[in-house]
Amino acid sequence: MTSTTAISLTGLGKSFGDQHVLAGIDLDIARGSVFSLLGPNGAGKTTMVRILATLTAPDTGTIHVAGHDVVRDPDRVRAAIGVTGQYAALDKVLTGTENLHMVGRLLHLGRSEMRRRTTELLERFDIVAAANRPASTYSGGMRRRLDLAMSLMSRPEVVFLDEPTTGLDPRSRRELWQVIRELVGDGVTVFLTTQYLEEADQLADRIAVLHDGRIVADGTPAELKQLTPGGHILFRFADRADLAAAARATGSPATDPDDLTLQIPSDGHVTHLKHLLDEFAGSNITVEQLSVHTPDLDDVFFALTSHPAEPVPAAS
Ligand SMILES: Nc1ncnc2c1ncn2[C@@H]1O[C@H](COP(=O)(O)OP(=O)(O)O)[C@@H](O)[C@H]1O
Ligand SMILES: [Mg+2]
Repeated sequence: MTSTTAISLTGLGKSFGDQHVLAGIDLDIARGSVFSLLGPNGAGKTTMVRILATLTAPDTGTIHVAGHDVVRDPDRVRAAIGVTGQYAALDKVLTGTENLHMVGRLLHLGRSEMRRRTTELLERFDIVAAANRPASTYSGGMRRRLDLAMSLMSRPEVVFLDEPTTGLDPRSRRELWQVIRELVGDGVTVFLTTQYLEEADQLADRIAVLHDGRIVADGTPAELKQLTPGGHILFRFADRADLAAAARATGSPATDPDDLTLQIPSDGHVTHLKHLLDEFAGSNITVEQLSVHTPDLDDVFFALTSHPAEPVPAAS
């Protein structure tokens, strides 16, 4: 563990009964980065967050968060982290301001410090107008923002966001993404779990895919996308004669005669596209339509998690 590492795990294992939920996880997460743990429902994301946040004991492994051992020094870890998740911890009877003050009192902040941080967080999370209304009147997105604000009262070094946008409408989701981006601008390390590939793609510097208790892929969003081929250009032609001629010209067998389409593997680069169009034009083949398909994280995710786990080396 170096000063540039915010979270490090070696050999983390956790079972419930005979179910090996985490089967030997190794990870190093850089300070000031957004790390996203991606996995379907039941993959073990919350279990990992709970262990890192000292709420559940690991069976095996050495785990450091913000420089402290989660098993030997849980109090120090707790003092350095904020945790928020799918199930908001706020008190719905209390107003936004009262919820933040409640956390401030739990943290034994002085009165003026408590008020200062409350004002700052209400502003930053766009809750000022609703600050004096009970949280029961808040929208789902506002509740999540307030919950996140509460976890930041202690000015944590590391923040755990466990499926922070699950169940939110697309607009609230985007608003929360913006707030998370700003957090990182302040140097906070964010450990984010999500089932949404788009979310990880939008926010994360690095993504690890959790499947069958193991990390089956780990890299930047761009690196993960490269793990799965699938980029191609789809051409549609006016008739079967043109389709057949195009297939001959490109040596591509991937035609669909019913749709009059031809699929050619491609990284989607303009020079490749131009080369193909020039070739068709040179053979008097008329292209009616074309679309460029780049692999997205959905392709990666399905490729990695639709079968029993087989470790895939990270792209480098
Ligand atoms: N306290 C517990 N006791 C028994 N099984 C549990 C407990 N917590 C989680 N599990 C099981 O561990 C697996 C992973 O759960 P969880 O970490 O909540 O996954 P995720 O957050 O990725 O949806 C699930 O099969 C779940 O039923
Ligand atoms: Mg969960």
